[in-house]
Amino acid sequence: MTFTRKPDVCQTTGSAELAMLDVYMPMMKSAAIISAGQLGLFEALANGPLALNALAEKIQSSAQGTVALADFLVTLGYLEKQGESFTNTPSTQRWFTSQGQIDYTPGLLWTKEAWPMMGALGEAVRSGKPEKTLWQAMVEKPQLGHLFASYMAAFAQDLGPDLIKHVPVAPEQTRLLDLGGSHGLHSIRFCQHYPQLSAQIVDLPSALMQTPASIAQAQLSDRITLSPGDLLEHDWGREHDLVFYLSVAHNHTAADNRRVIQRIAESLRPGGLLVIHEYLAERPLNALQAAFRLTLLFETGTQTHAPEDYAEWLSAAGFTSMTRIDLDPLEKGSLILARR
Ligand SMILES: C[S@@+](CC[C@H](N)C(=O)[O-])C[C@H]1O[C@@H](n2cnc3c(N)ncnc32)[C@H](O)[C@@H]1O
Repeated sequence: MTFTRKPDVCQTTGSAELAMLDVYMPMMKSAAIISAGQLGLFEALANGPLALNALAEKIQSSAQGTVALADFLVTLGYLEKQGESFTNTPSTQRWFTSQGQIDYTPGLLWTKEAWPMMGALGEAVRSGKPEKTLWQAMVEKPQLGHLFASYMAAFAQDLGPDLIKHVPVAPEQTRLLDLGGSHGLHSIRFCQHYPQLSAQIVDLPSALMQTPASIAQAQLSDRITLSPGDLLEHDWGREHDLVFYLSVAHNHTAADNRRVIQRIAESLRPGGLLVIHEYLAERPLNALQAAFRLTLLFETGTQTHAPEDYAEWLSAAGFTSMTRIDLDPLEKGSLILARR
């Protein structure tokens, strides 16, 4: 008998393998990586290899459980064996430890919370909307807002250098409005980079729980202010030079985005710049784009929008120059820079 090996357990099937592996293996892969993040296993190996007993002790777990988890993580390419010791692979070290370039462990902790919620996906498909949105769930369980903002902060650390590279700020431009600014890292980065800037962050109160501490740590409390509220109704003032609408449009309907972009246009100074970061819905959708749209249906009842939609909203609001920049790698999404 010949078996067709899948290149990755999460790839689409079509082979002669048992179809249930498409369900079982991604579940186990996801659960193992999340558990490792939760237990601090990757961080425990950040300074070098450890033998089983030392690793088990460091993550305060049984040797029996630790070896079962670590052996599976070896097969997944997350750990390697060095003699009798376990060590992080370079990719694990880069993405899931404090020694790496970006530590996405907050993403693992968020996914742990999101996972049981997915049990209601079928209901959301049936009704075409979530039973309750993520924002409503965060009001009921405030720790969700903190976990989500920490996850978004990891994305923001990754995206920050791209923004600095592609977003021009002239010396006379002083006022930044960061809509849906959450963790505050984008405003902090721009204020650090451009000493003439001050920033105003608008977001739901649940997303701003840790933001004052981050701003204070960056010693920017005198230049960055928070405006808690729903940006669809909030009066965010006028005379802004730069407006960030970063990864927020997919949380809103087309009609709401049209209105928000119109209001942004009215609140910009002449020569001001709107910066949108988004995951654009290009047809045909690839697997990641389609998965993200399904997540949004379930979490917020919204969807990603097509490039033509943005072009239409921007020109209706009087923006004349629009530039699209696709980031590298493509999974990072796209920037749209628009001036009136
Ligand atoms: C995907 S996160 C992006 C966070 C941040 N802009 C970034 O790029 O890392 C979307 C943010 O938009 C905020 N948001 C969504 N709808 C909002 C609304 N109606 N009013 C205010 N904030 C909103 C969420 O609370 C969340 O912080």
